[in-house]
Amino acid sequence: MKTIFSGIQPSGTLTLGNYLGAISQFVQLQEDENCYFCIVDNHAITVPQEPATLQHNIRSLAALYLASGINHEKSTLFIQSEVAAHAQLSWMLQSISYMGELERMTQFKDKSSGKDGVSSALFTYPALMAADILLYQTNIVPVGDDQTQHLELTRTLAQRFNNRYKKTFVVPDISIPKVGARIMSLQDPLKKMSKSDENPKGFISMLDTPKKIEKKLKSAVTDSEGIVAFDKENKPGISNLLTIHASCTGETIETVEDKYKNRGYGEFKGDTAKAVIQLLQPIQEKYEQLIQSNDLDDILDRGAEKAAATANKTLKAANAAMGLGRK
Ligand code: AQP
Repeated sequence: MKTIFSGIQPSGTLTLGNYLGAISQFVQLQEDENCYFCIVDNHAITVPQEPATLQHNIRSLAALYLASGINHEKSTLFIQSEVAAHAQLSWMLQSISYMGELERMTQFKDKSSGKDGVSSALFTYPALMAADILLYQTNIVPVGDDQTQHLELTRTLAQRFNNRYKKTFVVPDISIPKVGARIMSLQDPLKKMSKSDENPKGFISMLDTPKKIEKKLKSAVTDSEGIVAFDKENKPGISNLLTIHASCTGETIETVEDKYKNRGYGEFKGDTAKAVIQLLQPIQEKYEQLIQSNDLDDILDRGAEKAAATANKTLKAANAAMGLGRK
């Protein structure tokens, strides 16, 4: 059995991109593997958050994980800030991260460019992400392809630590889905769909009403050619919709292309909306039950306890390897 770790930031309501790129993989993996799924709230505060909204988003994310099919009896679901070892190991890994490595991270460049008052935590974010993963002796990290660069740095830091001090960490592998690894914005198909996008028309939230989903998909940016064909370079909008459609129905992109060969964009967009609604509706129904129940707190308390037991063991070994403390 392999150990899997992955996390999602409570920086807004999850998007269809988060679901297709991350959560849908998690649900499959938990059947055979030892999985840790984390609500990475310490990552969310690398950009300003309103405290009450952050707390709401943390609960909402926990409920969405469960509503999407994460089984708390099979997997460990927990909140990052409730397991102190994450912040502790992150500091230690910062001490072996180089400024040049962190400066090269495209996510840092994207999120900091043109902004005043960029936090130092946004800069050191990859060391915290590495700590999250390494604490659980993780073998595989299932993520969307925007996280590849951070994962490579995690591997580098694990190897550097093991070589410099003592073999302490498993060096993890990345797992990226074949389809759906990068769902793009509906308004700017050259940009990733993001839950913190200032333009809500760019993303489909997992909690959007059917009407909203339909409206957003109907106004998705495409091209004037009128041919439903996959061509990422010349037809990024239609290619993105094809990816969304195929991922939601479970068909291949070629099958969907064939189906809409001689049909217009209007019909294709309408059916894509139907496919998204069909996927999200049962999740939304389960979410409504969970968000009202006290079970959520019990599940998260147990998750934090279980995660801390493993994380503290690794932290102890890392402290000893580095020569921190007395033992
Ligand atoms: N558009 C996407 N397509 C496929 N996968 C995606 N993921 C995110 N966006 C897409 C995957 O979802 C997981 C959780 O991501 P995250 O919330 O930790 O951070 P993120 O990648 O920065 O996601 P967002 O939605 O863009 O958040 P904000 O707007 O706060 O920065 C990861 O596995 C990610 O690959």
